[in-house]
Amino acid sequence: MQMLWFLTFGAFIGAIASSGDDPETNPASSSPGSVSWGPRADSTSMSPKISYSTAGFGSRTASHGTGVAYQGNIGSPYCSNIIEVTAANAKEYKYVARFESSTMDEWSVAVWNKIGPDGKQGGWFSEPCKTFILKSGSIQYVAFDEDSQGGWAAAPGPFIPTDKQSAFASTWGEFDFGSVINTKWSGFDVSAIVAQNAGLDVQGMRICDELTQTCSSITANAAAINNAYTQENFDQGGIGGKITPGPVRLNVTLGYSHKPAR
Ligand SMILES: *[C@@H]1O[C@H](CO)[C@@H](O)[C@H](O)[C@H]1NC(C)=O
Repeated sequence: MQMLWFLTFGAFIGAIASSGDDPETNPASSSPGSVSWGPRADSTSMSPKISYSTAGFGSRTASHGTGVAYQGNIGSPYCSNIIEVTAANAKEYKYVARFESSTMDEWSVAVWNKIGPDGKQGGWFSEPCKTFILKSGSIQYVAFDEDSQGGWAAAPGPFIPTDKQSAFASTWGEFDFGSVINTKWSGFDVSAIVAQNAGLDVQGMRICDELTQTCSSITANAAAINNAYTQENFDQGGIGGKITPGPVRLNVTLGYSHKPAR
């Protein structure tokens, strides 16, 4: 399982790195659907501001390594690059994920850094940075500091199933925010690979960046796949959202099922 996730993430990084664009001089050149990087006119909690809060984050760790071994900011103290924020404060931050259930279930969610506390890849084993229970109808916002890479897993019920190696083995979301090695690009995808390899349930999940209207989604049992990773396409690059430098607003729908993909 571990290996496949590395490949997923490696493919994803490679796709961004080889895009051939210079995002510093040509920020929106190859991002389909990229419309505006400025703040929206409305004042909802998903709207970005021009300057961003870092309140609550710890110190940033220096990035090093390349390819799948790349280590960005894991926060010092560890995990202080990932914080829960209120609906009112969410818009103050640059990189935000908004978790919402589309079912009547309570969902367990765990969010981790790609690099574990031991400095090796594997933050998805046992000790995530954040865990929370999302009650039906409630919303949880999580903010990420610059150059954060990792993922989250979600499952209905009081815990997230794990595989034989104790990796979280439900449907995953993977993120890369303001990647230094990728000249500040961001990316994300939904992946069912770990759950499928473990022979466990694939839960529905949709992640949409609301600023670019870029989405990645999988429905329950991997019935419908949109721009997302599965056992079949794990070795393909370029899947998921690739976002030019700037704010990211990931709207995460847990239990995503019936709505048409966008
Ligand atoms: C996020 O997705 C939900 C569906 O799960 C939708 O109702 C909501 O309007 C979206 N939020 C934003 C800010 O786009």
